[in-house]
Amino acid sequence: MPYVTGTAPGALPLVGHAWSLTRHPLRFLESLPAYGDLVEIRLGPTPAYVPCHPELLRQVLTDDRTFDKGGPFFDRFRSVLGNGLANCPHAEHRRQRRLIQPAFHRTRLERYGDTIEREIDALTEPWRHGQVVDAFPVLYRFALRTVMRNLFSAHIDPPTADRLQQAFQTALGQVVQRMFTPQFVQRLPLPVNRRYDRALAFVRATVEELITRYRRGGEDHGDLLSMLIAAREDTDGEGGGSVGFDDGEIQDQVIVMLLAGSESVAAVLSWALCLVARHPEVARRLQEEADAVHGGRPSRSADLPHLPCAGRVVTETLRLYPPGWLITRATTAEAKLAGRVLPAGTTVVFSPPVVHRRSDTHHEAERFDPDRWLPERSGELPRGSFVAFGSGARKCIGDTYAMTEAVLALSTIAGRWDISCTPRTDARPAPMAGILYPRRLLLRLTDRT
Ligand code: HEM
Repeated sequence: MPYVTGTAPGALPLVGHAWSLTRHPLRFLESLPAYGDLVEIRLGPTPAYVPCHPELLRQVLTDDRTFDKGGPFFDRFRSVLGNGLANCPHAEHRRQRRLIQPAFHRTRLERYGDTIEREIDALTEPWRHGQVVDAFPVLYRFALRTVMRNLFSAHIDPPTADRLQQAFQTALGQVVQRMFTPQFVQRLPLPVNRRYDRALAFVRATVEELITRYRRGGEDHGDLLSMLIAAREDTDGEGGGSVGFDDGEIQDQVIVMLLAGSESVAAVLSWALCLVARHPEVARRLQEEADAVHGGRPSRSADLPHLPCAGRVVTETLRLYPPGWLITRATTAEAKLAGRVLPAGTTVVFSPPVVHRRSDTHHEAERFDPDRWLPERSGELPRGSFVAFGSGARKCIGDTYAMTEAVLALSTIAGRWDISCTPRTDARPAPMAGILYPRRLLLRLTDRT
């Protein structure tokens, strides 16, 4: 099929489409398919190409040798966050993935499920009738605490865990701004830079100390860090030689997991609660399901197969508000896409909302309709039309973990309270953020009568 290529209008000198992208990301991205299947935009002065057609995007995501991690902001991101699984180039990826994959095996996920259950209890137990919850920050702390517990199990004392959490939030809060700030400004002795340097140094030092302690103890604590330390690759195919991660690599992996496993889960849960608050019919069905499956208590991992309605609500939320909204690739060699020749070093943008919000792909795409994910309806969807977790070799390794956490938390919260948005809620996506999350989501919890 002949693809159409085009150019998005409205690029400004020097900044390109940065203003629309950071201020009104969804509006801008949704508008792109009107200009073609492959659309040129400007990230600052750099031209970048956005595959808007699901099949073109699939081509990009499944050829990760040609369309490798990279792009103008990505290299900055890598310099800040290290070279872990989510950031490393293709040449290192297969080895890292093979070493980490066992940590996400079904049997391990069952253990993580126990921690998720405990953290959902700790989150919701103090909530009272009439309380207003500032959803995103609260859910962010919950998701970060959960992933920390799964990384380090009980081997981190609560005050250190709190400090680690604060330091991580401080460092992460500045990553996006730093991606847009010239490097010499980042080196100036400004309070903001010093806070950032201190926070990142504390995170790295704490993780380093934990690794040393784990190595010295030598036991398997059943957590992610134990798995990363024990991970070995058979280098000669006969078990004669084996290589694992060195301590620096483990630190990078821990930082990737802390980052990837926290903000995105908090974001999808926040949007899901916002949508449920605004769609009483969906809330009612979630409550009926929760009553039937875990009435009167929080949900448990064993309940998961019986919570299909909550699962569909989370999937539909991920379609409308995929946390990762702008991820770049750089071509490592000349490549052809939609009939167009892209020289080596061209930036290509992977943006899930662009394909998720196309009405010719998803019927009435703007409508929140969890039932579109009923098996008899979702089977019709074209390949590449749902990419909230990516696709191909770089697909999210934590997708099952994330779905478990989001579905159990949603079913527990929606099953126990009627949720409404207070008038001061501002549910537009936060500007200048690395992931899509609502600016201010103030949810009122009312005991169900
Ligand atoms: C709703 C929650 C989540 C969403 C929407 C999400 C989304 C994604 C996406 C789109 C990618 C692919 C990026 C690309 O192609 O460049 C990815 C990769 C990744 N995610 Fe997630 N993620 C979520 C939760 C998690 C969790 C809970 C973890 C770990 C505990 C995690 C760990 C990772 C890692 C390590 C990668 C890199 C995989 C690789 O390159 O082999 N993610 N995620």
